Amino acid sequence: MGKIIAIVNQKGGVGKTTTSINLSASLGVLGKKVLMVDLDPQGNATTGVGIDKRNIGSSVYEVLTMKSSIENAIVRTKNVNLSIIPAYLNLAGANMELIELERRYKGTETNFNRIMRLKDELYKVKDKYDYILIDCPPSLELLTTNALAAADSVLIPVQCEYYALEGIMQLINTIMLAQRKINPNLDIEGVLLTMLSVNTNLGLEVISSIKEFFKERVYDTIIPRLIKLAEAPSHGKTILEYDPRGKGTKAYLNLAKEVIERNGSKEESVG
Ligand SMILES: Nc1ncnc2c1ncn2[C@@H]1O[C@H](COP(=O)(O)OP(=O)(O)OP(=O)(O)O)[C@@H](O)[C@H]1O
Ligand SMILES: [Mg+2]
Repeated sequence: MGKIIAIVNQKGGVGKTTTSINLSASLGVLGKKVLMVDLDPQGNATTGVGIDKRNIGSSVYEVLTMKSSIENAIVRTKNVNLSIIPAYLNLAGANMELIELERRYKGTETNFNRIMRLKDELYKVKDKYDYILIDCPPSLELLTTNALAAADSVLIPVQCEYYALEGIMQLINTIMLAQRKINPNLDIEGVLLTMLSVNTNLGLEVISSIKEFFKERVYDTIIPRLIKLAEAPSHGKTILEYDPRGKGTKAYLNLAKEVIERNGSKEESVG
C-alpha cells in the first residue's frame, strides 16, 4: 500500500510546490514508485515536471467532480518512476461544484462526499505506488481538507524567516480537527526547513525555535536558498535534471533518504 503524504502549509510561498516536485523526483530516482497529485489551481507542480498545461486531457478537477476516472488522469512524466495527476485553472471552481454535486447525489446510489472525494479516488490506485505526494494550495479550504482526509501524514515546509511560526498554530489546529473529525490516523510526517540563506544569523535563530517547537519531527536536511531551485521549474525541469550535481539535488535526495528511513527501509517496493 502506498503512503499518502500531503505537503501542507496555508502560508503562501514557503516551498510546498518546490518540495513536492523535487522530493517526488528524488524518491523516484531512489527506486520508489511515486504519484504526485497537483491540488493547486495554479498548476505549478504540473508545469514544474515539464507538462504543458495546454495539452492536459483530464486533470484532478475532472477526477474530483467525477467527469473522469482517476486512471485516465494519471500522466507519466519524463522523470524515472514519477507520474502525476495534473492541475489546471478549472480546479479553482471545484469548491462550489463539489457542494452542488454532493447535494445532487444525496439519496442516490452514488456515494459522493465532497470532503472525501480525493480519498475515495486515491484508494483505487494506492497500491500501485510506494508514495503519493499531494501538493496543496495555500489555504485550508475544501481542497486542502480533501488532502487531509486522504493522507496518511502531512509534511510541513517552513520557510526559514522571521515570521516562520506565524500561522503554524492555525495549521496544527486544523490538523488536529481533521484527526478528530475525518481522519483519526493522520500523522505528522515531518517538518522541513526551507530557503535557508547562508550568512544570516536570523536563519539559525529560526531553526532553533522551530526545533524547540516540533522537536524530532524536524528533518536533519535543510533546503538552502538557491537560485537554481527557483529557476528549474521555468525550464520544466526538476532540480535533479536541471542541476544534477548541485546542492539542491543533494539536499532533496538527502530528504528523500530521510523520508524512506522514517518509513522503515525494510518495506518492500511495489511491482
Ligand atoms: N530553496 C529555494 N531556494 C530558492 N528559491 C526557492 C526555494 N524554494 C522555493 N523557491 C522559490 O520560492 C517561490 C515559492 O516557492 P513554492 O512555489 O515552492 O512555494 P509554495 O509554498 O508552493 O507557494 P504557494 O503557496 O504559492 O503554492 C517560488 O518562486 C520558488 O521557485
Ligand atoms: Mg505551491
